Amino acid sequence: MDKIIVKGEKRLSGEVEISGSKNSALPILASTLLSAGDHTLLNVPNLADVTTILKLLQGLGAKVTKEKSGCTVSCSSLSSCEAPYDLVKTMRASILVLGPLVSRFREARVSLPGGCAIGARPINLHLMGLERMGAEIQIEHGYVEVKAKKGLHGARIPLEIPTVTGTENLMMAAVLAEGTTVIENAAREPEICDLAQFLIKRGAQIRGAGTGTLVIEGVPRLNGGEYTIMPDRIEAGTFLIAGAITQGDLLVKSVDYSTLEALIGKLTEAGIEVKPDGEGIRLRVSSRVKAVDIKTMPYPGFPTDMQAQMMSLMVISKGLSVITETIFESRFTHVSELKRMGADIKIQGNHAIVQGVKQLSGAPVMASDLRASACLILAGLAAEGETEISRIYHLDRGYDRIEEKLSQLGAEIRRVKDRP
Ligand code: EPZ
Repeated sequence: MDKIIVKGEKRLSGEVEISGSKNSALPILASTLLSAGDHTLLNVPNLADVTTILKLLQGLGAKVTKEKSGCTVSCSSLSSCEAPYDLVKTMRASILVLGPLVSRFREARVSLPGGCAIGARPINLHLMGLERMGAEIQIEHGYVEVKAKKGLHGARIPLEIPTVTGTENLMMAAVLAEGTTVIENAAREPEICDLAQFLIKRGAQIRGAGTGTLVIEGVPRLNGGEYTIMPDRIEAGTFLIAGAITQGDLLVKSVDYSTLEALIGKLTEAGIEVKPDGEGIRLRVSSRVKAVDIKTMPYPGFPTDMQAQMMSLMVISKGLSVITETIFESRFTHVSELKRMGADIKIQGNHAIVQGVKQLSGAPVMASDLRASACLILAGLAAEGETEISRIYHLDRGYDRIEEKLSQLGAEIRRVKDRP
């Protein structure tokens, strides 16, 4: 297993190009199952999770070719409707094939995704919605079997939680269902809008993407075509924090400022200069950042996927910051590793009380999940001495060449083979 070594206290400057969004590419790739046409997707990030979903599509019988920053997918003749455990266990988002498979082929057998480091990650709302659309659900031997002999029909689906992949699964199920589907309390993330745009270009009839109410009129079929995946706002946010934590001066290119308003608001409150600059966002820091309170919320609130990264910045801020995680029940696994580097953090329930310290010290630390890996790299950028981050297979799931991009900005960071 590889590890990453960071030598801290290097000020970052220059410009970085953001890759395509992992959390948009995954549902859009899953949605190619809905159509017999050929799809050409551009700006697809080179990530382990993308490789996994492409393998999953191939296992279902899709034809897939991967070029440098794009891929073509054809699901004209599938040979299976089963997503196997050995793939689903490596990536929970595999559950995104459920909606499309049932909608087009009237059946699916998908391994239950199970939990992960940040929480139990249930899919009860995904299944509730499919049942309301006429599907019969059976759970046995760790698989969920869904059948809709007469095809899915439109329904009103009130979501008690605005689940992101739940909204995506049900939107994809509804596009070929008979009649109208209304999803209430739908997730509003920009990646939902990107998926809706992709489907509308394929002939789907979807209204209200980005609002809390989605209205989908079923259509008989979708066609193929070309589409460019939106930039990854969480990768962009991670680089903004890399600039802030090293008191740098960065231009983060090819990202939509409006998708990061909550994070930018907090960085501004912390005394950091952040403003739109052409096709990107410019960040400058001239003094030690101030502590601010953070509370993660569904979009457009502060994104839970930026909580760990923001904590690494608050750890060296001036003052006391209360960070409240409201989305996942155990998304503080990075705290113990930050404390090994000298951070002063106390956990009380779903709050992390962070007392800013002047200096972190580099140490060997262990990544526990995707965003915790990024948080530890960020802390290493600011720490005195060397930080060694192990288990970085977590990082490779969601960041496309992060150490290469950070090196180009002036970071002293390298990937080494871990002892076998
Ligand atoms: C998506 O996960 C993202 N993944 C996550 O990003 C992100 O953290 C999360 O949304 C929240 O924004 C992808 O888009 C591939 P949820 P998802 O369903 O859809 C509860 C990353 O780092 N819930 O919105 O799985 C659930 O337990 C990853 O890129 C139910 O109770 O998240 C959680 O507490 C990590 N029942 C809350 O809702 C359900 O049926 C939000 O989960 C579904 C969800």
